[in-house]
This record gives sequence, structure tokens and C-alpha cells, in this order.
Amino acid sequence: MIRVLVAYASERGGTAEIAEWVGAALREAGVEADVRPAGDVETLDGYDAAVVGGALYVGRWHREARHFVRHHADELAHRPVWLFSSGPLDRSAEERTVDPVSGVAKFARRLDARGHATFGGRLAPDAKGFMAAKVARTASGDFRDRDRVAEWAAGIARELRSVSA
Ligand SMILES: Cc1cc2nc3c(=O)[nH]c(=O)nc-3n(C[C@H](O)[C@H](O)[C@H](O)COP(=O)(O)O)c2cc1C
Repeated sequence: MIRVLVAYASERGGTAEIAEWVGAALREAGVEADVRPAGDVETLDGYDAAVVGGALYVGRWHREARHFVRHHADELAHRPVWLFSSGPLDRSAEERTVDPVSGVAKFARRLDARGHATFGGRLAPDAKGFMAAKVARTASGDFRDRDRVAEWAAGIARELRSVSA
């Protein structure tokens, strides 16, 4: 059975939940998936492929996602890898393809990633923290679309099965 690591970096839980949705969709498609915070992963031993997801903050991927990719660059380079970002606090990610921010695009090139997706984000209207509270005054809500996430993950499962066949 193909085994996939879904590693995520999330500040307020929205990206963590997207990672869980990816894991659930992979399992539904017959692929084994472990969903773990990126900072908790020590090795990729035992995994055939990886999905790495990070929340976007001020135009950058969450620092734990950046650290994860740098720290595990060699292991990732030897496996099929997909990246995702979350995101935009409006409908843009559902209406069109939102390109990765430049730092994530660089990682994607370096890892020869099979794909990248930007999913909408979530911010509570009463978000804590100076910056978050400020952003929430004009842009709060839940813009994540579980069906779109599941479709993306099902595509990953299809690709993995065709590679292993
Ligand atoms: C201070 C702050 C800065 C943000 N900057 C960006 C950004 O540059 N690009 C973007 O698409 N979303 C941005 N967001 C939205 C977050 O990415 C979104 O809320 C996301 O769902 C957070 O994920 P998390 O709940 O896993 O931490 C920002 C949110 C906050 C509070």
C-alpha cells in the first residue's frame, strides 16, 4: 500500500483542518495517509510520497513549513511531493488558480513538486493578536472549500497509483 505523509504548518487551525481533509480524501482513494504537524516530523522513512501545506502570513509560508522543506530537502527530493498553501480571505482561490507566493514557488522548483494548490483561508472575526485582529476587522470568514480540497487530493491518489502500477 502506498503511504503518504501530509505535513502541515498552521497558526490558527485552519490549515491543519485542510491537511486532515487531504488525509481523509487520500484514504478514501485507497492510499495510506498520516497527517502530522510539520514540526513533529523527524524522518520521511517509510513514506512513499509527501504533501506539505502551510498557512500564508504576510506573503510567506508559515515558518514551520519553510523549515520542514529545508530540513528534509534531501528526503523530499527522492519522493513525489505536492505543496499547498492556505490563504486568501475571499473567494479568489475558488474562482481562479492562485499562483504560489514566490518563496513557495522556489521550493516547488527546487523539489520538482508535482503540483501546488492555493486554498482559501479562515480567520475568526474575534482573532487574537494585534495583526490578526486588525486583518479580521476587514477580512474574516471561512473561505475553505472541502470539496475542492478532496478533489485535489483524489488527483494525487490517482497519480500515485499510476506511478506505482
Ligand atoms: C496577520 C495575517 C496575515 C495574513 N497574510 C496573508 C497573506 O499574505 N496571504 C494570504 O493569502 N492570506 C493571509 N492571511 C490569511 C491566513 O493565511 C488565513 O487566515 C489562513 O487560513 C490561516 O491559516 P491557519 O488557521 O492555519 O493559521 C493572513 C492572516 C493574518 C491574520
